[in-house]
Amino acid sequence: MKKILLAAAIVLTVGSVQANPYMALGCVGCHGVNGAGASAPALAGKDAAWIVKQLKDFQSGARKNATMNAMAGMAAGQEQAIADFLASK
Ligand code: HEC
Repeated sequence: MKKILLAAAIVLTVGSVQANPYMALGCVGCHGVNGAGASAPALAGKDAAWIVKQLKDFQSGARKNATMNAMAGMAAGQEQAIADFLASK
């Protein structure tokens, strides 16, 4: 029984991480819980299309910031999911 509960907990945890790449990729460490801001600018409630554009610009180097040029690369393919999550906060 304990093993079944543990397995269920793992499935639930993995599910929520997949649904939330903002947490999985560690963006939260600098941009704060739900994008409220911390050592890096707040992202909560920003326009989703604007967030996607910033991430693409960091990826291409059109926008330069050493930290974000690296972090945005990790977010490749998940820009929209991250932006939708933050825009909803
Ligand atoms: C190690 C700290 C750190 C991590 C981790 C980090 N960021 Fe950032 N982020 C920054 C800093 C610092 C800036 C401000 C860059 C600048 O001044 O141009 C920034 C800027 C941004 C911006 C533009 C905000 C604005 O107001 O112009 C977006 C969008 C963003 N980050 C998204 C993310 C996402 C998504 C992740 C996770 C994949 C992430 N960041 C991870 C430090 C971080």
